[in-house]
Amino acid sequence: MNEKVKVSLQERSYEIHIRRGLLNEAGAKIREVSEAKKILLLSVPKVYQKYGRMVLTGFSKNFDQVDFFLIQDGEVHKNERTLFSVIKKLRELEFQRDSCVVSLGGGVVGDLGGLAASLYMRGIDFVQIPTTLLSQVDASIGGKTAIDFQGIKNLVGSFYQPKRVLIDPDVLGTLDDRQMRTGLAEIIKCGVIRDPKLFEALEKNIDLFFSRDPVFLTSLIYRSALIKAQIISEDEREGGKRMWLNYGHTLGHAIESYYGFQRFTHGEAIAYGMWAAGLISQGMGLCTSKTTQRQYDLLKAVGLLNPAPKFEKERVYQKMFLDKKARSGQIQFVLTRKIGLVTIQKNVEKSLIFSALNRLQVEMTQSSIN
Ligand SMILES: NC(=O)c1ccc[n+]([C@@H]2O[C@H](COP(=O)([O-])OP(=O)(O)OC[C@H]3O[C@@H](n4cnc5c(N)ncnc54)[C@H](O)[C@@H]3O)[C@@H](O)[C@H]2O)c1
Ligand SMILES: [Zn+2]
Repeated sequence: MNEKVKVSLQERSYEIHIRRGLLNEAGAKIREVSEAKKILLLSVPKVYQKYGRMVLTGFSKNFDQVDFFLIQDGEVHKNERTLFSVIKKLRELEFQRDSCVVSLGGGVVGDLGGLAASLYMRGIDFVQIPTTLLSQVDASIGGKTAIDFQGIKNLVGSFYQPKRVLIDPDVLGTLDDRQMRTGLAEIIKCGVIRDPKLFEALEKNIDLFFSRDPVFLTSLIYRSALIKAQIISEDEREGGKRMWLNYGHTLGHAIESYYGFQRFTHGEAIAYGMWAAGLISQGMGLCTSKTTQRQYDLLKAVGLLNPAPKFEKERVYQKMFLDKKARSGQIQFVLTRKIGLVTIQKNVEKSLIFSALNRLQVEMTQSSIN
């Protein structure tokens, strides 16, 4: 399967290529869209050890000067210090405007590489080679770049579109199950907001996901990338439709933050958020209980919505207002009408949110040990 998805943004348009074994051709595929003489591969040790050499070999055939730079792994390093270490490296290597940065790794490497490329000399070429499921279906697409600052996630960033996104599903072979599930949460989200067939495919064939069937995985990545690309093409900067992509994220972010970003991965947190959004939608009469139940059943079947310690509802509620997406003190909820169709709602009664939080509390604390 050789899939291409286009993100249409006039002169900033680009393609997302999805194919098994694509890592071997990364150099040639980047050469097609960049005139750069110098190229820097940015990665983390764990990913570089597995895939770095292969990518660099292809670079050497296509670029005059090839270098790599490794940053420390993990969200805690998505900060100004790492950002400026990358910029310093670009300076040391005497990168000019005709140079290119390539991020090989998960969303952390992608966000950092994109921001560094956007800042250095007011912008040099940038390419994404995402290696986690989450970054393949979400973080690498759409041009958002950022670092965390003073404890606030993604506070400092820019919109900077890559020249190309290269997705090789085979790299998922080394990703652990937890990281696979976190990416799957975003795929389920894509199904709920825009693609009922994708949702159904997951309901029917979830065992193919767990057995990591390469054809099934490639099709999931393709369909999710397509949905994100279409939405970005229609609304680059989150004025309207791009907000759909925040389905489950208002509460998901609050939960992530409440538990100090340690307990849950992003996908695990938004899984709670999606179910709660379903409950709120149902409470407002926007969707049937069957729609909410289908989301619950699928999330549960894939091993999300697991038990966790009790949370303080009022504090979680307050955290939703701190979400940078809460405009002028109002929470904007993306709510379900049916699988494949969502709507944005501004005024959601506190009682409805609390009743969803109550259900969540019961679900989360069931069989929890602490
Ligand atoms: N820019 C956006 O639009 C956007 C969207 C969503 C998330 N994000 C950001 O993405 C980040 C989360 O991304 P993530 O979940 O990919 O986390 P991550 O980048 O921290 O990667 C998770 C872990 O997987 C490892 N890893 C990566 N690829 C691997 C592979 N093929 N085999 C084995 N291990 C591998 C990494 O080294 C890391 O330890 C957050 O910082 C988030 O803010 C950005
Ligand atoms: Zn997300």
